[in-house]
Amino acid sequence: MASKIVLITGANSGVGFATSKFFSSQPGYHVIMACRDAQKGKKALSEIQSAGEVKGSLSLLELDVDSDESIRTAFEAVKKEFGKVDVLLSNAGVIALGSEGREKLTRIFQTNVAGAFLFAEAFTPLLLKSSKPYLIQVSSSLGSLAWSSDPNNPYYHSAWDEYRMSKAALNLGTIQQHKRLHSQNVKVFAFCPGLVRSNLRGEAEEAVSAGGNAGDPLDSAKALFDIAEGKRDADAGKFVNGAGVIPW
Ligand SMILES: NC(=O)c1ccc[n+]([C@@H]2O[C@H](COP(=O)([O-])OP(=O)(O)OC[C@H]3O[C@@H](n4cnc5c(N)ncnc54)[C@H](OP(=O)(O)O)[C@@H]3O)[C@@H](O)[C@H]2O)c1
Repeated sequence: MASKIVLITGANSGVGFATSKFFSSQPGYHVIMACRDAQKGKKALSEIQSAGEVKGSLSLLELDVDSDESIRTAFEAVKKEFGKVDVLLSNAGVIALGSEGREKLTRIFQTNVAGAFLFAEAFTPLLLKSSKPYLIQVSSSLGSLAWSSDPNNPYYHSAWDEYRMSKAALNLGTIQQHKRLHSQNVKVFAFCPGLVRSNLRGEAEEAVSAGGNAGDPLDSAKALFDIAEGKRDADAGKFVNGAGVIPW
């Protein structure tokens, strides 16, 4: 059986790493681990391989979503080697630790909005070569306008203004991509992985675990796998998490 090709940005860490590990543990999947830092990518790939659970296959791709040139070069490499992508997981994201004000807002929007959106636009021609394509934008519940503005919702109370704004903008981009692509058979989702362990908030244990509150990114990976396996097709065009549908 020919492999389904899954391309994951930000694959060396957190949600992207767990998802690379889980998908490659399933037969019939080839995971392209797209990482902006080749050394981190190599380390992550060999960590997955040495865990001994790979039943599919894996490869590495250098890709910085902040760079049009990097996106173009990566696209040509994937086109040449694989000719299609079945699952495009636009996962790379930042909270721009260590910056403030305009610089922070610009850095966050550069990666989480421009990077995520333009990466997906650039790779769409390869998705259209798949017989059952999925485009998943990794968003956050913090970007839900409905929850952010509802005083009775727990998400009402947290700050993270710049990050929330970026995910709300990405959500609208995802709606636009759905409207354009659903007639061409592409199932488009915005997906929240939940609060899970990762380096997003920093590399110290307190930050990785969000003060002990963060769950296991393997659960996010399993929910993403369900999407790729067609179990959430009825929710295409929506904002989802592992449990259900999130209001925009
Ligand atoms: N973890 C959570 O609780 C949580 C909750 C809701 C949503 N999310 C979303 O989940 C996604 C994954 O984040 P994470 O939590 O797994 O954080 P993470 O551990 O920091 O992983 C983020 C990944 O994105 C990569 N990245 C950053 N900028 C990039 C760029 N310009 N080009 C390519 N790759 C880039 C990072 O690469 P480097 O290692 O080289 O920096 C890293 O591999 C993000 O979109 C985040 O907003 C996470």
